[in-house]
Amino acid sequence: MAKLLSPFTQRSVTYRNRIGISPMCQYSCTDGVPTDWHLVHLGSRAVGGAGLVIAEASGVEAIGRISPGDAGIYSDAQAEAWSRITAFISGQGAVPGIQLAHAGRKASTQVPWEGHSGIPETQGGWRPIGPSAINFKDDYIEPLAMTLEQIGQMREKFVASAKLALAAGFKMLEIHAAHGYLLHNFYSPLSNQRTDAYGGSFDNRIRLLVEIATAIRSAIPDGVPLWTRVSCTDWVDDGWTIEESIELSRRLKALGVDCIDCSSGGNVPKAKIPSTPGYQVPFAARIRREANIATAAVGLITGIEQANQVVESGDAEFVLLARQSLRDPYFPLHAAAQLGVKEAIKPPIQYERAF
Ligand SMILES: Cc1cc2nc3c(=O)[nH]c(=O)nc-3n(C[C@H](O)[C@H](O)[C@H](O)COP(=O)(O)O)c2cc1C
Repeated sequence: MAKLLSPFTQRSVTYRNRIGISPMCQYSCTDGVPTDWHLVHLGSRAVGGAGLVIAEASGVEAIGRISPGDAGIYSDAQAEAWSRITAFISGQGAVPGIQLAHAGRKASTQVPWEGHSGIPETQGGWRPIGPSAINFKDDYIEPLAMTLEQIGQMREKFVASAKLALAAGFKMLEIHAAHGYLLHNFYSPLSNQRTDAYGGSFDNRIRLLVEIATAIRSAIPDGVPLWTRVSCTDWVDDGWTIEESIELSRRLKALGVDCIDCSSGGNVPKAKIPSTPGYQVPFAARIRREANIATAAVGLITGIEQANQVVESGDAEFVLLARQSLRDPYFPLHAAAQLGVKEAIKPPIQYERAF
């Protein structure tokens, strides 16, 4: 059996295969409430055979959304709308997951098809927050440096969102600590110039993420898998490094995080990212081997053989697909056919005659 199509069990959750849909913002919500678009978008990928479907970065509070169109998981209306979507995903045999997020200093920006600048408060935006008052780039809004009281409240917000997500039917949770958003802002020295317990040394810079992961782990049932998406490097000389990511992963594993989703970059505009096929897989491989924790590989994984090789070689337990899954929602079903294990994923009964 091709390993890509083999089931994997984490805590009390079994994924039918190792193909996950990477979280993808759809910028299509009002007040953070997901819509029929999300039902069809996420639902189609569950129909396509993925083992895991991770819903987009969802703000733990309104000002933690990247744009006014982003999803949230901080209100009952949002949870209710998500419930319909998670029920459909589960009904198709996929595990519904959600990415718990706070956009930090990259919040209050335009949806991408309208532009790439910050939206000032006078035009319907809001004041972002971050570890320090340093903006991401000139046309982004300068964040307010968080007080210790706000940092304490942030732990509670992540925990409240984690509980709300489980009530809405999600079966795995991912903490978004990558791509230049709040938790990445804290652990990268490029965006964190604090001189208190949350800035300076490695231990201090990772403190907020460690506290949030600890608090979520102790607030959710033992059976629920908890993942963390990390930017494994800032891709600049004086930034966050893969060696720091490995040490962070060891700490996260010790406190009960089950998988590191290995992405990179996003915290500074000047980073030069070598976007070649599978360019982040080596991070997943190193973290898996050196921190002894399950990993998910993501980034320019587009081929069936390529995806299977990532898992077969032991570089990662999971492959996450983003853009390729938009081009081909049936990638997992196609992979099962191509790898000669059609029986590994049952297509929906309504579609059986096509497969
Ligand atoms: C439309 C779109 C939206 C995205 N939104 C998110 C997101 O909500 N959270 C996240 O961590 N990454 C997000 N990403 C990044 C993807 O999850 C993925 O890491 C990246 O696209 C690389 O994978 P790929 O080469 O398979 O597209 C997004 C990517 C795309 C294309």
